[in-house]
Amino acid sequence: MDSLGIFILLTLKFFQWTAAASVEETSWTYTGLLGQAEWSDHFPDCGGTSQSPVDVITTQTKYDPSLIPVVPRGYSQHGNQPFTLSNDGHTVVIELPEWMGLGGLPWLFSAVQLHLHWGNGGPSDGGSEHTINGQSADAELHVVHYNSELYPNISAAMTQKDGLAVLGILIVTGEETNPAFNNILNYLSRIRHADQKVLIPAFDVQSLLPKNLGRYYRYNGSLTTPPCYQSVLWTVFHERVQISKAQLMKMETILYSSNAEESEKMLLQDNYRVTQPLNHRVVFASFSAESGKELSSGEVTAIVIGVMCGCVGLAVIIRFIVKTIRFFKLLHLETVVVNSSTSSWDILHNNRPAPMPRINEPEKTNEKKQDLALNSTSEAERKEESSPSPQTEP
Ligand SMILES: *[C@@H]1O[C@H](CO)[C@@H](O)[C@H](O)[C@H]1NC(C)=O
Ligand SMILES: *[C@@H]1O[C@H](CO)[C@@H](O)[C@H](O)[C@H]1NC(C)=O
Repeated sequence: MDSLGIFILLTLKFFQWTAAASVEETSWTYTGLLGQAEWSDHFPDCGGTSQSPVDVITTQTKYDPSLIPVVPRGYSQHGNQPFTLSNDGHTVVIELPEWMGLGGLPWLFSAVQLHLHWGNGGPSDGGSEHTINGQSADAELHVVHYNSELYPNISAAMTQKDGLAVLGILIVTGEETNPAFNNILNYLSRIRHADQKVLIPAFDVQSLLPKNLGRYYRYNGSLTTPPCYQSVLWTVFHERVQISKAQLMKMETILYSSNAEESEKMLLQDNYRVTQPLNHRVVFASFSAESGKELSSGEVTAIVIGVMCGCVGLAVIIRFIVKTIRFFKLLHLETVVVNSSTSSWDILHNNRPAPMPRINEPEKTNEKKQDLALNSTSEAERKEESSPSPQTEP
């Protein structure tokens, strides 16, 4: 009886253990019983303090001028070997050749794979993992690399602090079809079920990236899926990539998270993790907020009107000042003229060259009378002025 009891106990334990193991390997999900809130029960790192994705609050980023543009290496030289596209039940993945890599980071990184995160084809927000100032994009592309300078392969690198580098590309919808994304989307119908794979023609991986690789956010974070290792140096580009609404709809509605054998088909949707707390981490920006600001046409109009109003205002003020100065100058001039009319007369009188010959007395007195009539200065001054004049006379 005792040995039977032990046997039953051990059997139960074994089944518990195998059940737990299978959860840890494949059956985590985004929602439901094994959803993201429960990940840390099975994958302790998912409950860590440096998790991804995060909400980038642009006013709280720190400008770091040493952050140079990232340099994709070999992205465009894909060669003739086809790519393998697969549905792993969580996302769609393309394995990348090891000779593709990334420069412009503290170490050389080799490409491993790229995959996507998206929403549910409905009108609701969401789809991207990273958000900017609380705003989601419609989807997000991740290109995963490992530190090939320090580690021999991805499995060795992915548990190390400096092991991985991931590029995050925010995807939004617009009017135009983005032909680069059709290199993936055109083949999704061949891998509708989990665990399906297909070979697809190789293509220029750089064509999936934004044009400006110099403006990005950089922070230390984690894998955004279990086991959530905190080993990722993140680069989230400022520039978003645009695809059409029809392309997004394809991405969001063709794939199943269930495999072909399962009777109940489950659409592969909303495969994005919610943003995680920053916990004292700093998000660095390779560009400064002011110069990085792109202006909308409304803002441009506002600035033009503002500048015009400013100019008109300035012109009015300058005109007023000039007029005021002129007015005071005139006023001053008039005062000077009135106050010194006689002295200036006197000066004229004094500076007169030697008086004309034969100036007789009556003429002189006449002149003096004139002086008297006009002069408002003191008697003494007048005497002083008039006294030398006879001396100059021959
Ligand atoms: C990765 O490298 C480690 C350490 O050298 C090695 O033990 C392991 O077998 C390698 N794994 C693969 C998948 O190559
Ligand atoms: C990431 O962490 C390493 C080691 O702690 C640190 O040296 C580096 O500056 C951090 N990088 C960023 C972008 O925060």
